[in-house]
Amino acid sequence: MSLYSLLQRRFIKFIKKVMHWKFVCSCLLLGILSHGCAFTSHTLTKNPQTIISSQKILFIKPVPSTILNKPLKSNSDDLVWYDNPSTVQRRPLIAGNWKLNPKTLTEATTLLKLLSSHFLNHYASNSPDTPEVAIFPPYPFLTTAIHILDGTGIKVGAQNIGLQTEGAYTGEVSASMIRSLGCDYVMLGHSERRCLFGESDKTINQKVQLALDEPGLDVILCVGETEEEYENNLLSSVVSLQIKKGLMGVPVEELHRIVIAYEPVWAIGTGKVATPDQAQLAHVSVRESLSEVYGSDDSKKVRIQYGGSVKPDSIERLMTMPDVDGALVGGASLTADSFTRIVDGAAVSPFNYQPPKEFTARECVATKNVLGESPIWSVRDQTLYWISAPEEEVWSWNLNDAPYRRLFGTTIGCVVLKQGEHGSVVIGGERALLATNMSPQTNDFAVGASILCERPEQAEATRPNDGRVDRQGRFVFGMYNNYHRAGVSVGENNAGIYRLNSNLEVEQILDYKYRVSNCICFPKEGNIMYFCDTPTRKVYAFDYNDTGPLTNRRLVYTMPADLPGGPDGAQVDADGLLWIALSGAGRVVRVNPNTGAVDMVVHLPVRSPTSVTFGGKDLDELFITTRGPDGGGLYRLKMPFGIVGLPEPEFIVNQNSNTNFILQQQRDLASMYQRDGN
Ligand code: PGA
Repeated sequence: MSLYSLLQRRFIKFIKKVMHWKFVCSCLLLGILSHGCAFTSHTLTKNPQTIISSQKILFIKPVPSTILNKPLKSNSDDLVWYDNPSTVQRRPLIAGNWKLNPKTLTEATTLLKLLSSHFLNHYASNSPDTPEVAIFPPYPFLTTAIHILDGTGIKVGAQNIGLQTEGAYTGEVSASMIRSLGCDYVMLGHSERRCLFGESDKTINQKVQLALDEPGLDVILCVGETEEEYENNLLSSVVSLQIKKGLMGVPVEELHRIVIAYEPVWAIGTGKVATPDQAQLAHVSVRESLSEVYGSDDSKKVRIQYGGSVKPDSIERLMTMPDVDGALVGGASLTADSFTRIVDGAAVSPFNYQPPKEFTARECVATKNVLGESPIWSVRDQTLYWISAPEEEVWSWNLNDAPYRRLFGTTIGCVVLKQGEHGSVVIGGERALLATNMSPQTNDFAVGASILCERPEQAEATRPNDGRVDRQGRFVFGMYNNYHRAGVSVGENNAGIYRLNSNLEVEQILDYKYRVSNCICFPKEGNIMYFCDTPTRKVYAFDYNDTGPLTNRRLVYTMPADLPGGPDGAQVDADGLLWIALSGAGRVVRVNPNTGAVDMVVHLPVRSPTSVTFGGKDLDELFITTRGPDGGGLYRLKMPFGIVGLPEPEFIVNQNSNTNFILQQQRDLASMYQRDGN
């Protein structure tokens, strides 16, 4: 036997002893406490069957936390028993408990539409690697939720059911009713039902039975101790009773339809989240209780969620605990962003973590752009170009002289290089794609930039946003839903990705719509395109073909749940690694697109970097655009370790050539751009 397993065995034995003594002490304390509260504890023994069959056990009302004006004791000295992860595979479940929120159907619809567009196309609903997701809106919103979330993989559940199946029971709702709407879950025994509505374990057990009588309707059974019980070491015994009474009569064959949500009452809605160790210890105790009734093998298959003030910044650490199989989320499920981040956090594997190397970029041009974006370096011009979208300007800087800008009288999404004389560029304008010249000798001021072609989606509330020239010399750009945060088309996926070919024809190359295009960039081989719909916080790679649409989408990066904001512009370096500006999180990360690992982080003193590119005569400097209110300047970092970028391709206009000729020319150009990557 290895030293490790010997230690593990001793450890488990020790924990069992601790648990036993905790239980005995708990029972004694329960007895003492019961004098002043609702427990009838004198018959409490270690045999759960005796307790359950002989006594009516009521729930202790939680003591308001203001009365217990002392910090919760820490369990940091307690040892935590870790299950053997290799033998148990439980798919995490993240559930959103909306409680009595929001106030109106209109608000509920907005939240559902945002959730839908966050999830649509982004979660494989049945993959064991991704968490299962369910939301629990109030009854009147269930049908709308089921309708709007159709196709997203998000399941819908009800927050309660009544005790009858049909008849003269005014105001009640039955299990068959919610199931017939399409609900997959019902949540029972929530502490608010127990405390505020006086639901006993017996009532909860009756509801569990009624739910299980409906094929396809699964149950989340909530359990958890109050702060006072916790302080008095009653966690194990309280939770054990709730489980054993709540599941009384549930046969082992039905156990797979039960999820336990462990929610310490002192953590619900209070902002006091249990530490991961506290949660793990409690979940072990929950599993022990299940095991006493159903045996160890079956109890290991039951998912145990943690609930109580779970937020995007606490989920990842909670999920590192082997017995935490997801979360029941209240307050943070009421915004699409925080709920989605929690789901993402539950999907991230905490193992194999290597800390990245960290750097800080410095401001080199104090432009105070409202929304700086789209930096590109021209090898031909030895000049960096970038835009400020709402200020309708394109900036130009040769790294020596003072930078200058030109105003174009249109919101600008991006600027790319155009084949031709010094300063030739193409601009993604609000109403059209424009060709102009940014050199100081520019002479189109009087007539303005020339229109290359109309923008697509004329009937939509969208505009061109992020864009880059592919390695074959074509201009690929994505659109942006102007109202994606609020307004008429909030939550609507109405933006697409397009390619402007050399013959100036535009073709759509993504077979679904989304909200905010970003990250568009290509490695030197030109056979992959990266893309991100920013609100989803996920970056994908696609196979990029000479003709036809993007294919074979795969996820390469999900923004960590504890970071605010979303992925914005990106660029690929000569080694094929992806540099992504994380707007809102004040950093740029380098991601290995094959593994998703982040090995470098460039910090900025401002919150919102918007995009990145490589420039300078050796392409060994990283330039980062930023936005207001705290940012707006251009930032720069000399790259360490010989990291260099790729020369930026130019858009080729060749209206008269036939397609084969253009393709051949583009392939030649592509091979010219392939560098050995020193
Ligand atoms: P909370 O609620 O996340 O707002 O604490 C959790 C719950 O009551 O299920």
